[in-house]
Amino acid sequence: MHAGIDAIGLALPPLTLELAALARARNVEPSKFLEGLGTTRISIPPVDEDTVTLAVRAANSALENAGVAKSDIGLCIVGTETAVDHSKPVAAFVHGLLGLPSGCRIYETKHACYGATAGLQTALDWIRSGSARGKKALIIGSDIARYGLRTPGEPTQGAGAVALLVSDAPRLVAFEPGKVGTFAHDVNDFWRPLYSKDAVVDGHYSVSCYLEGLEGAYRAYLERADGPRGEGPFSDRFGAIAYHVPYGKMAVKAHRHLRGLEGDADPAKSFERLVAPTLVLPRLVGNIYTGSLYLALASALSESPADLAGREVALFSYGSGSCAELFSGTVQPGAQARARASGWRALIDGQRVIDVAEYETIMDAREAMDTRAAHDADGPGPRFLGVRDHRRIYSA
Ligand code: CAA
Repeated sequence: MHAGIDAIGLALPPLTLELAALARARNVEPSKFLEGLGTTRISIPPVDEDTVTLAVRAANSALENAGVAKSDIGLCIVGTETAVDHSKPVAAFVHGLLGLPSGCRIYETKHACYGATAGLQTALDWIRSGSARGKKALIIGSDIARYGLRTPGEPTQGAGAVALLVSDAPRLVAFEPGKVGTFAHDVNDFWRPLYSKDAVVDGHYSVSCYLEGLEGAYRAYLERADGPRGEGPFSDRFGAIAYHVPYGKMAVKAHRHLRGLEGDADPAKSFERLVAPTLVLPRLVGNIYTGSLYLALASALSESPADLAGREVALFSYGSGSCAELFSGTVQPGAQARARASGWRALIDGQRVIDVAEYETIMDAREAMDTRAAHDADGPGPRFLGVRDHRRIYSA
């Protein structure tokens, strides 16, 4: 049975910070952030925005883009590493705020940035097995990437959610079973202790763990994926390669590493064709953890000048801690036109650019947001209004 991504929905906070301004405020050369890290702007969530509100908006947008009714959803998984409760899953809040059917299975997955990929693979298998019985799945990656003020990770923050509508009649990307390679390794490269809002990261080590995961997943993919191995680099068979993008330069390093494994002495040559289109949107959004890979896929579909119809795209997912997966699917006819009509660039262009003082005020205010007393809704939802009787209150 066919299974794949039928539509993508993106949600971003309304605010954004130019990294050139952050660099000046931190006495760093702007070129370090813009070229050295390869990111231009990072999305900043105000205090009434959290993982739930972003997930709900992304899901609504995916449903709208697909023209699918909520009553058709039989599985909703939210991948996140910035959940809002130790027990109640973000998926339960999403279920309530979206009004999904009571017969819909809901849960949350956590494995750093890999959580949404775990959800996607589960949804694909759920559909292929016949258990879905015509129903569709909503897989959402929603996160607020936060390292804290004046840390090395500060310019690699971001916030946003990507929702994937997964069905047996995918109009964007169809995935065949078996074209997947996995690599897991227990490492301490990036984590967030229970007592902390901010992630702890061994930055340079995390880069090497990412590359180790890529290499392991690539070798596992080669063992499982069939098909002819012609002359030249194996990855030349792909129309695009979307890597997990914590910051733009990481995808450059990843591609260099992958092509090195294939004996390519000049990886920059294939970068423009295979990777550059995947980075157009992520460079303007920053790290959104679980959603980052799927933002890169959205970027490939909406920004690639090449005709990708019928071509295979490779996706590389990396979750610190760690689990890495390389998998591929086929771009469906008309997918790029659908992606271009989705308005993702307009969403980014519509964000308000804030200055560093406003950004710092928001970061401080977010420290106490989870204990803030709930206030009445004063605008359109979904918004996080605060806490009452230990319950998180949202406007719909
Ligand atoms: N102009 C241009 N480039 C400059 C420059 C300048 N003036 N100054 C420095 N650079 C370059 C450096 O040469 C370097 O390039 P290379 O990586 O190609 O060598 C780059 O800018 C970054 O410089 P540093 O390594 O000195 O930067 P840093 O020590 O401040 O740390 C970082 C960078 C480790 C990525 C840090 O931002 C960090 O810890 N980020 C969070 C962790 C992270 O994103 N890890 C990614 C892998 S793990 C993962 O993917 C999971 C996840 O989502 C977190």
